[in-house]
Amino acid sequence: MGELRSARWFSGEHVPGFVHRTAMRASGFARASFDGRPVVGICNSWSELISCNLHLRALADSVRRGVLQAGGVPVEFPTISLGEQLMKPTTMLFRNLMAMDVEESLRAYPFDAVVMLGGCDKTMPAQLMGAASAQVPTIVVPGGPANPATFRGRRIGVGTDLWGYVDDVRAGRMSQAEYEALEASAGPSVGHCPEMGTASTVSAVVEALGMTLPGASAVPATDARRSHVAEDCGRTAVRLAEQGVRPSQILTADAFHNAIAVLVALGGSTNVILHLLALAGRAEVSLGLQDFHDIAATVPLIANVRPAGEHLVEQLFEIGGLPVVLGELAPLLRLDAMTVNGQTLGQNLADAPPVDGEVVRPLCDPVQPPGGLAVVRGNLAPGGAVVKCSAASPELLVHAGPALVFHDMDDLRTRIDDPDLPVTADTVLVLRNAGPVGGPGMPEWGALPIPQKLLREGVRDMVRVSDARMSGTAYGTTVLHVAPEAAVGGPLALVEDGDVIRLDARAGVLHLEVDDAELDTRRRRRAGEPARVAYRRGYGALYAERVTQADTGCDFDFLQGRSSEPAAEPHG
Ligand code: FES
Ligand code: MG
Repeated sequence: MGELRSARWFSGEHVPGFVHRTAMRASGFARASFDGRPVVGICNSWSELISCNLHLRALADSVRRGVLQAGGVPVEFPTISLGEQLMKPTTMLFRNLMAMDVEESLRAYPFDAVVMLGGCDKTMPAQLMGAASAQVPTIVVPGGPANPATFRGRRIGVGTDLWGYVDDVRAGRMSQAEYEALEASAGPSVGHCPEMGTASTVSAVVEALGMTLPGASAVPATDARRSHVAEDCGRTAVRLAEQGVRPSQILTADAFHNAIAVLVALGGSTNVILHLLALAGRAEVSLGLQDFHDIAATVPLIANVRPAGEHLVEQLFEIGGLPVVLGELAPLLRLDAMTVNGQTLGQNLADAPPVDGEVVRPLCDPVQPPGGLAVVRGNLAPGGAVVKCSAASPELLVHAGPALVFHDMDDLRTRIDDPDLPVTADTVLVLRNAGPVGGPGMPEWGALPIPQKLLREGVRDMVRVSDARMSGTAYGTTVLHVAPEAAVGGPLALVEDGDVIRLDARAGVLHLEVDDAELDTRRRRRAGEPARVAYRRGYGALYAERVTQADTGCDFDFLQGRSSEPAAEPHG
């Protein structure tokens, strides 16, 4: 073990060492805490505003126990936390803010290693991004999925069943008292959304990257084994500190390959594409949208978990958790990738439980064949766009139809249910100004609602194109993340009603059947229009100025890569 980073703060009888020790002793630490033991930060995104992360305060005690067992000094600290449900306009606007908070906390304070406690969608991506830039040894404790909700003796999915009950109330089939009982039972415990939405996908990807312990991601938030995981991670963090294992040794190109394979095999959330691209930028790993397309072309969907399948993460946990998926995928993975427990992914999978054939299917008999994710390009998306084929209607993946354009979300809300809307099932619905700058924050508006007029005719899916994101639990033939977005002058801004849009997800094409001369004319006509400005001051203004486009993960341009350590000799 070389000299610990924290020794620069706490060792020596000189004045700075004295001052730094005094500061910690005022917090109640005895002098023995600074005799050269690793200082392990517990980076906590606990918040009473986020039920997904509410239990992390208690979980930190388990981490603390593990750190102490291994001879380290645990020091818990808070950061900003991001909750999908309450934060407006969208948590994606604040992911980079949290990543900055985490990064600067790690760099500025005397940590030798850090344990990240996260859960809700954006929290773990932000923590990983910060860690990858700060390069302090890091391990993640995912918060785990919540208990599934039940109502009237039936298990309910908050995303889907709720709307049916809302209709029941409107139609007088459900009393106000029952409605209140539903409200009380819809979120029965702490923990993140229990299907393979964004948070569960992120947790699984953290495990595939090797940034948490094997099997950690699927353990339910309320299960005692979640505490065991936290304790184990605390112990592991001390070893990471002693051996100086940097995130860069784990977050390699091979690790990203494995993460993408798992994302596809789970039918996971498209949001995770953005997080992985941003994280790769921090980790200085070359990763592009095309890598997702290429890897997806070789990996089938094998997890029968909602929304792509029938079960919840809880059932995946019961049959052995993510190691089951990873073990079956092994022939398609880079097994030499190093993980935080000091073993390679291949070594960790040596005793992975076999597939059960129901919750996880074998590669030879998958839920869906390879190609669950496609990247499309063309004159409408020169930077690329994303289609979640596993959630789409196969017959619409190759489609050409006239565009019906909504200029922004307000326009869509006003007109979508107009009985005179000029729309048929063949129409391609377009929503623009919903990207990183235009949204702002790239809200999850990408699954545009089907116009009521067509719903009545029995239409359930249409091709929809936008620069927005889509919720991890949503469905439909949606072309998402169009880059560059309309608000920064992307070609999506030039589409007019009636223009033919051609999608061929299999061939990777998204084409606007309008010639270049006409597009140039439209571009010149638009040049005088005032830019859309959501924020004139504060963080929002910084975001609009420096956010990158979806094809590079919407990080800030100035946050890519790593920074150096603060000055070796800390001042008071
Ligand atoms: Fe937090 Fe779904 S709302 S994970
Ligand atoms: Mg979500």
